[in-house]
Amino acid sequence: MFASLNLDPARVVAPVSRRTFGSFVEHMGRCVYGGIYEPAHPAADADGFRQDVLALVREMGVSVVRYPGGNFVSGYRWEDGIGPVANRPVRRDLAWHSLETNEVGVDEFMRWAAKADVEVMYALNLGTRGVQEALDVHEYLNQPEGTALADRRGGKPYGIGMFCLGNEMDGPWQTGHKTAHEYGRLAAETARALRSAEPGLELIACGSSHSSMPTFGAWEATVLELAYDQVDAISAHAYYEPVDGDLPSFLASAVDMDHFITSVTATADSVGARLKSKKRINISFDEWNVWYLSEFQARPTPVDWAVAPRVIEDCYTVADAVVVGNLLISLLRHSDRVTAACQAQLVNVIAPIRAEPTGPAWRQTTFHPFALTSRLARGEVLDIGITSPTYDTERFGEVPVLDAVATHDPATGDLTVFAVNRHRTDPVELTVPLAAFGAGLEVVEAWTLHDPDLTATNTQLHPDRVAPRAAELALADGSARLRLPAVSWTAFRLA
Ligand code: AHR
Repeated sequence: MFASLNLDPARVVAPVSRRTFGSFVEHMGRCVYGGIYEPAHPAADADGFRQDVLALVREMGVSVVRYPGGNFVSGYRWEDGIGPVANRPVRRDLAWHSLETNEVGVDEFMRWAAKADVEVMYALNLGTRGVQEALDVHEYLNQPEGTALADRRGGKPYGIGMFCLGNEMDGPWQTGHKTAHEYGRLAAETARALRSAEPGLELIACGSSHSSMPTFGAWEATVLELAYDQVDAISAHAYYEPVDGDLPSFLASAVDMDHFITSVTATADSVGARLKSKKRINISFDEWNVWYLSEFQARPTPVDWAVAPRVIEDCYTVADAVVVGNLLISLLRHSDRVTAACQAQLVNVIAPIRAEPTGPAWRQTTFHPFALTSRLARGEVLDIGITSPTYDTERFGEVPVLDAVATHDPATGDLTVFAVNRHRTDPVELTVPLAAFGAGLEVVEAWTLHDPDLTATNTQLHPDRVAPRAAELALADGSARLRLPAVSWTAFRLA
């Protein structure tokens, strides 16, 4: 099979937003306790944070981390997590039927974030709480000294710039679930109050938990009609898995993500048009990943109130990594509207990083496309043309075999292409004409993630079983040419 790309440095979608390479730390399972934080671990630092995990987070190139939930946040009392640790209460977490010790609260997390060199996106509880608590936590986090809560914090304000106005409020599973009208009013009033405290905040309203939610579209329209002037972005969440073993559809998951993004953009723009507003609402794709959700849903929810139980510690395959790489391609392609994105989650819980108690931390297969995309995507995202054969899928009909995106840095001349071959059996011979970039481009690096065994995984015993390998790339007659193996993700940089 043959495919080609049409690249032109003048056709720019938007600058690459570093916030595309976000992640998510929820007080769920072993993401916080036993993930980023394990004081008894030999690699723990004086604050109890695992330095082996921190090193992997930095290597992954994570830019922003959403915290503290997730479904957890809709029953969370942030003030339980401040002050002397010995005085902090143990609480029930209704979302995951576990116990929250509050040993890690917002001050500890901000310390971790500084060590990891990541920005924090803070999610507010609009499930069981409302405007006053949002103002209180904002005062604690961001107010300069001289008020009751700022003085309880002590030290400099954290200066958090992005706040999520609740989590998945459209979902009946959410503690304090609301109708779109109830939520839209609450989001608008919370945003109005927060803005009067700090006008420059970036505020994100809850969109749909998935594009297959029965209220998808209508939810966004109602919420934005009520909160358009008060918010900057609306969230999108999506998790993908091979449903009933349907690999061809699973490999095309990014088709669904593309459709999700264009649908939310169109809905937001239509509300903007009705309101005669010149303002544009962006998308915060603040939960996305591969998640074997139906396996999780098939098991009865344990009501055992354990501390940091093992929950959804999915072990990712080669095929999962290719899909993750493709989802990043989709997010980058929409950089004009997707201004932040968070892979969910960071450690242990459906995560690219796994960590065992008193044992090692390692990279799952999905770590690699994320780390390489974060490192290599620089400058501007290009609006590229793709010529590709197609294949049939059960869920999305006919889809292109090849998907790709490119970034170009006018300052350095670097051109990077990210490409996926979704075909189950056949390689793709890819041609990328380079004439538009002038003469003299050379190959700096080229990587492919591929394995004949699509089910191969990285484990504690074999942590590097799946890793990107150097790809062969030929530059001839003004074009780059390479072979993309069946079910593979590839990135190459020219300069
Ligand atoms: O990431 C796991 C869960 O998925 C989050 O808590 C929730 O927001 C979503 O449904």
